[in-house]
Amino acid sequence: MATETLSPSVKEETTTDFLPLMGTDYVEFYVGNAKQAAHYYKTAFGFQSLAYAGPETGVRDRASYVLRQNKLTFVLTTPIRDNNEIAAHIAKHGDGVKMLALKVDDATSAWEETTKRGGKSYMKPTVLKDDNGEVVMSGIHTYGDTVHLFIERKNYSGVFMPGYRKWESVYNPTSTSLLYVDHCVGNVGWNQMNPWVKFYEDVMGFKNILSFDDNDISTEYSALMSKVMSNGNGYVKFPINEPAEGKKKSQVEEYLEFYNGEGVQHVALATHNIIETVTELKNRGVEFVKIPSSYYSTVLDRVGHIDEDLKPLSDLGILIDRDDEGYLLQIFSKPVEDRPTLFFEIIQRKGAKSFGKGNFKALFEAIEREQAERGNL
Ligand code: FE2
Repeated sequence: MATETLSPSVKEETTTDFLPLMGTDYVEFYVGNAKQAAHYYKTAFGFQSLAYAGPETGVRDRASYVLRQNKLTFVLTTPIRDNNEIAAHIAKHGDGVKMLALKVDDATSAWEETTKRGGKSYMKPTVLKDDNGEVVMSGIHTYGDTVHLFIERKNYSGVFMPGYRKWESVYNPTSTSLLYVDHCVGNVGWNQMNPWVKFYEDVMGFKNILSFDDNDISTEYSALMSKVMSNGNGYVKFPINEPAEGKKKSQVEEYLEFYNGEGVQHVALATHNIIETVTELKNRGVEFVKIPSSYYSTVLDRVGHIDEDLKPLSDLGILIDRDDEGYLLQIFSKPVEDRPTLFFEIIQRKGAKSFGKGNFKALFEAIEREQAERGNL
């Protein structure tokens, strides 16, 4: 009926998002050798050269290589001097994620709103300028030595940001059709999950959209707990894991030991065709956690009809899960450095907004087999 009105009990939405995020701007890794790491991400993952900063551009203490694939931007940074905070970071943690940079419309407001709510400043709002305009950047600390940068680039038309020059390369491997960061998972210490959930709620205005306890995520040997934090529009999702008591050492404990503290466990990269993407990644040498073939004899009983043939999924070791809204396909790489720390997830969502709870047991048993091979279980 045209005259129908909302009942007065339906409240108007009055909360405004004090930290509007437009997604992930880039992920910056501190690595021991950025030149070689850039070659790996180009060759193995199909990234393209975008920009470079280093001694040739007036940066004295570091070199940074910027790579892009669709909406994914990775920055690989290495120190070229000792006695430098990047060198200290690598000595402590090995290669890993330092910055999860978030795209904002106003980096000054992002810094003010988060620091006044208790966020610890990493960088006050700073204006970087060149002939192509300006980028405003600010940042706060999160778990471990990890940082959230806020990047405002609406008044910038250059290739990446001031201080960088375009990186033209004659070596341009084809894309593997990776699209954007789906989510980024942090591992935190014992009893630290809830304090960090509170940090994301209070300081960044995120909401806890999913929780998994140790009954959801446990194998015969080990357990972990996880809560998924999401910003208002759902563009940025940060699950937080902590170890839980089990008979043996959990994968989160192994990570904390080898990373020497809390940090980013995995970055999930989205694709629209996981079979093609993973076939390509495997051909280029990316290694994935092996799933037993028995997983595929029962998986369709659990998830029902899917559009894909099961054969290529089982050949590649791609996992399947379903929730109320659809299903998802996912696979996990082995750690991408010698320490058993950071790895990648490749994910294709077909409606599902969840994180593969139905796969946890099979996946963690597979991870534990590899942990045992390293003598860390
Ligand atoms: Fe994930």
